[in-house]
Amino acid sequence: MKPVICERFGIDFPLFAFSHCRDVVAAVTNAGGFGVLGATAYTPERLDRELSWIDEQVGGKPYGADIIVPAKFEGKGENLTRDQLADRIPAEYREFVAHLLADHGIEPEAKQHLGGSALSGDTGRELLDVAMSHPIKLIANALGVPPDYMIEAGRERGVPVAALVGAREHAVKQVQAGVDLIIAQGTEAGGHCGEVSTLVLVPEVLDALGEMGSDVPVLAAGGIVTGRQMAAVVAMGAAGAWTGSVWLTTEEAETAPYTVQKMLAATSRDTVRSAGRTGKPARQLKSEWTDAWLPNSGGRQPLPLPLQNMLAEPIIRRVDVLAAQGHPGAQALATYFVGQGVGLMNKVKPAREVVREFIEDYLAATERLSNSLPD
Ligand SMILES: Cc1cc2nc3c(=O)[nH]c(=O)nc-3n(C[C@H](O)[C@H](O)[C@H](O)COP(=O)(O)O)c2cc1C
Repeated sequence: MKPVICERFGIDFPLFAFSHCRDVVAAVTNAGGFGVLGATAYTPERLDRELSWIDEQVGGKPYGADIIVPAKFEGKGENLTRDQLADRIPAEYREFVAHLLADHGIEPEAKQHLGGSALSGDTGRELLDVAMSHPIKLIANALGVPPDYMIEAGRERGVPVAALVGAREHAVKQVQAGVDLIIAQGTEAGGHCGEVSTLVLVPEVLDALGEMGSDVPVLAAGGIVTGRQMAAVVAMGAAGAWTGSVWLTTEEAETAPYTVQKMLAATSRDTVRSAGRTGKPARQLKSEWTDAWLPNSGGRQPLPLPLQNMLAEPIIRRVDVLAAQGHPGAQALATYFVGQGVGLMNKVKPAREVVREFIEDYLAATERLSNSLPD
């Protein structure tokens, strides 16, 4: 008999893999796990192309999509154009960034380019429509309760809606709003995260949902890069694991080459929870960029979401290109979202191999668990 979560999602192993890279998503799904494409930064047209490609690769096997529609952000409900939003970035912030780059030997661009932000919440509905026109088996959201239109679309089409949470009370709110799957994500996680560790958050969330009589399944996330860690969260009552960081150093990932080198060399203490990239605390590699945005250590207070993201994203992309060319200042600034599990990520491998190792390590851990008590 298959476990409920495997039955429900049509998978062999309850390992969920979040990735911005379609090749990782397809590889994990084809290896018996469940790939989820991070779609927030895509245009609707690009998302349609990526999902069509995945459809061809997976031959009907299950996969999902993740679209962040933040519950709160600067300019929400004001119908601002990108330029109007950009006008809210104070001149002193643009100057601060120009100085930071100059201090690292990076010439200013003729015209400072500001990115549109994928996190301004304005393309969520269109992306959702595109995602729902493909045979996705899950739609996930982060940074608050999903908008009603997402929950309704999930209901109509029979696609479960998942939400990432970093605190017990947020899980309760999500279930009350009608979410079908909770991802309890600890502070170890790469990307936006809360303050509670996975080891504490998972039982807290399970207890809270139990107290409200909910049978919504909970996946554990944050710091899980091996099968033994996955076994630990399943032993605590999680239905499976939701992962992100571990796929960044796979052969299929599109992680910038210098960033991959930084990740392979990094220890678990080389990440920081910083709002310097998006305006909301997100775990990423520590670098001279993240140092510059730590107000308690003499850095600048980041702007709110999505303004910080509009300011930071084009610069970080430029930094990545220069870092790959060997520019020392850019290499010192280069950063990317990754969790504390980076300390265990020491080799580039195919995604399929990562899934295989997860399964083997998981089985060995379950054996250790069952041998841990006398007969
Ligand atoms: C590079 C990167 C980008 C991420 N972007 C998103 C995102 O757009 N939407 C989302 O729901 N979660 C995002 N996350 C969080 C993942 O979905 C996942 O919860 C997290 O990576 C789990 O912790 P781990 O990194 O320790 O495996 C991101 C994580 C990483 C590492």
